[in-house]
Amino acid sequence: MMNAQTYSFYNKFAFLYPLIDVVLQPQKKVLFSEVNMLPEGFLLEIGIGNGAHFQFYKKHKITGIDTSAAMIKQARKKNYDNVTVLKMDGEALLFDDGAFDYVVLSHVIAVVDNPDQLLAEVFRVLKPQGQVFILNHFTPNNWLGKIDRAFEKISTLLHFKSFFHIHNIAAITKFTLLKEVNFGLVPYFKLLIYQKK
Ligand SMILES: C[S@@+](CC[C@H](N)C(=O)[O-])C[C@H]1O[C@@H](n2cnc3c(N)ncnc32)[C@H](O)[C@@H]1O
Repeated sequence: MMNAQTYSFYNKFAFLYPLIDVVLQPQKKVLFSEVNMLPEGFLLEIGIGNGAHFQFYKKHKITGIDTSAAMIKQARKKNYDNVTVLKMDGEALLFDDGAFDYVVLSHVIAVVDNPDQLLAEVFRVLKPQGQVFILNHFTPNNWLGKIDRAFEKISTLLHFKSFFHIHNIAAITKFTLLKEVNFGLVPYFKLLIYQKK
């Protein structure tokens, strides 16, 4: 579950999203090129924000969810035939087991309260051999790790986890890593593509 403060934070700052998106655009290009190469299927995006990604999905039947009412309102304004927008918690998905071929988690795994529960739900709703695309910052084992640690308290106020290691999430062992794409000279932002075992 997303706590009430995080929920109201994302409601309040929904208007900032187009700005932040400009900064993250290069990584997202890679995400979409990977996703668009796959055979047509059912794709769930969790934490869609304002729905800025919808225009970049060139195939697939898309379901987009978010817990923030303000984000959902903006996402619904983008009216695409292949996209269904629902207000739902990624940690408590209301879909059947094996409903999706692909799941996209773009800058959401370090925002939810319980990333382990989120991944367990992703595992459940994926078909066998289904793939999850995780775009995020991942704390490296170098000086950047110390900065992430130092910012841990402040990042909590901003409703995300600055210090974030994927191997600390137990449910990740249910997946096989297919591909890792690093962005920038110092690998901090990454796209990790996993397959359900
Ligand atoms: C940092 S934004 C990322 C938005 C977009 N995915 C992107 O890459 O630009 C995180 C989004 O996840 C949503 N969110 C947070 N916790 C969630 C949860 N448990 N289930 C679904 N959405 C959640 C927030 O409301 C917010 O819109």
